[in-house]
Amino acid sequence: MRHRAQSTLKRRVNRRRFLKLTGATAVAAVVSEPLFAIEALAAPLTRHNISGLTASSKIIKSYEKAIGVMQALSISNPSDPTGWIYQAEIHGCPQPPAHTAWGTCQHNQFFWAWHRMYLYWFERIIRKKSGDADWTLPFWAWDTPSERHIPPLFRDPTSKLFSSDRVDKMNDGTGHLGATDTDVSGALSDTYFTSTMGGGANDDIQGPHGYVHVKVGKGFADFSKTAKDPLFWLHHCNVDRLWQVWRSKHGGSDPTGDASWTGQTFTFFDENGKQLTMTGCDVLNTATQLKYQYEGVSNPLAEPCPNTVHVVPPTFAPFPFTFPPIPPLAAQPVHIPLPIPPELQRQLLNIVADPTKTVYLQLADLTADVQPGVTWATFVGPQSAPRPAVLSGKVPADPQSPFYVGSVYLFGHGIKNELPNMPTLLSFPLNRALAASSDRPLYLTFVAQGIVVGDAMVTQVNANVKIGKASIVVRTLKRG
Ligand code: C2O
Repeated sequence: MRHRAQSTLKRRVNRRRFLKLTGATAVAAVVSEPLFAIEALAAPLTRHNISGLTASSKIIKSYEKAIGVMQALSISNPSDPTGWIYQAEIHGCPQPPAHTAWGTCQHNQFFWAWHRMYLYWFERIIRKKSGDADWTLPFWAWDTPSERHIPPLFRDPTSKLFSSDRVDKMNDGTGHLGATDTDVSGALSDTYFTSTMGGGANDDIQGPHGYVHVKVGKGFADFSKTAKDPLFWLHHCNVDRLWQVWRSKHGGSDPTGDASWTGQTFTFFDENGKQLTMTGCDVLNTATQLKYQYEGVSNPLAEPCPNTVHVVPPTFAPFPFTFPPIPPLAAQPVHIPLPIPPELQRQLLNIVADPTKTVYLQLADLTADVQPGVTWATFVGPQSAPRPAVLSGKVPADPQSPFYVGSVYLFGHGIKNELPNMPTLLSFPLNRALAASSDRPLYLTFVAQGIVVGDAMVTQVNANVKIGKASIVVRTLKRG
């Protein structure tokens, strides 16, 4: 009974929040043309899996048409915010940014929210440019094992959906992503999306998201170019879908109790080129606030935002272990002992037994001269982890191994010849690996991973990665 009363109250709060929202966004977002007045839609529209669409599907035809219109607009009026290049440069990072909102992509605690806003306004622009009023962005479900190739419609050189700025073997369909690139099981099981730890966090789906950028390669792996590729939007649509999957699983775990998250506004443009701003709280409940949902994903329960009563930001504490120097990551694996004194290892085992705590390996200030073009599967475990065939680089690493903790990748961060050259911080959750290792002496291993052709891995390392600093950090989650 008490439970029921609480959920009614929650619903009422959400409704109030929703009304407040529609009121607040009305100034900027509600447009005069009823065709595009998405706020007035009774039911949410559905975003579909690209694997179910063909070249003659209306969604594909409309997308191709809108791309043509937007590309032409970029030439006739480069400062029109609804042009193809203008939209892409909102993600990219021309220096100095020539126009409002250029180079504002967020790869930090705003990763989820910012990219959701970006996709949402892009989708509305496509609707208007194509004249297809209920057009929805399809998603590339690369996390499904049968979908690890670039979707065929995007590999047809005669289509508007093609880009030559991808790795050749991916673009001709012979190569595909590997199992570690597309593994989201670890990320989906975490109860807090902690991208709060900074640039390039890979303790959540931002990691696999980045591995896919790296493996599709060339321009797709370059922060400043990737949004010019029509495939970018389907990749991020899948990332957005996975946020939704995660929210359905762990409702109420978003950073809604963190004022620095809920209070930050971002600038976008609607389909009429009108400038507007949004916060993370405006995009949490897609079915009610943004009127869209995903094929195959149930809508998460509505969440009050801000929510300072029930959701408290996590805390982080350093763990007293000093790492030996780590050699640069290259084509040959790095496999080094971690001389953790037995009593410290016992302490770590006690920490991982506490469900509110997560132990992280943090790698900071990683740098490379150019995009390496590969990821490095990372293992923490006994000397025998990983298996010899994986260590030899012939067989792709298996993310199911309890000692696999994530992959090293560089995307937008730490690459000297690319903008933005921001500092890199990768965070690998170690709980599973430490528990499986028990009190056996620990090793740290990095094995380069390329794309997969047939069953074999094709690993071409274009640059070595230097690791500036390694440390162990303990995260504590608090619930009010
Ligand atoms: Cu802002 Cu996939 O990148």
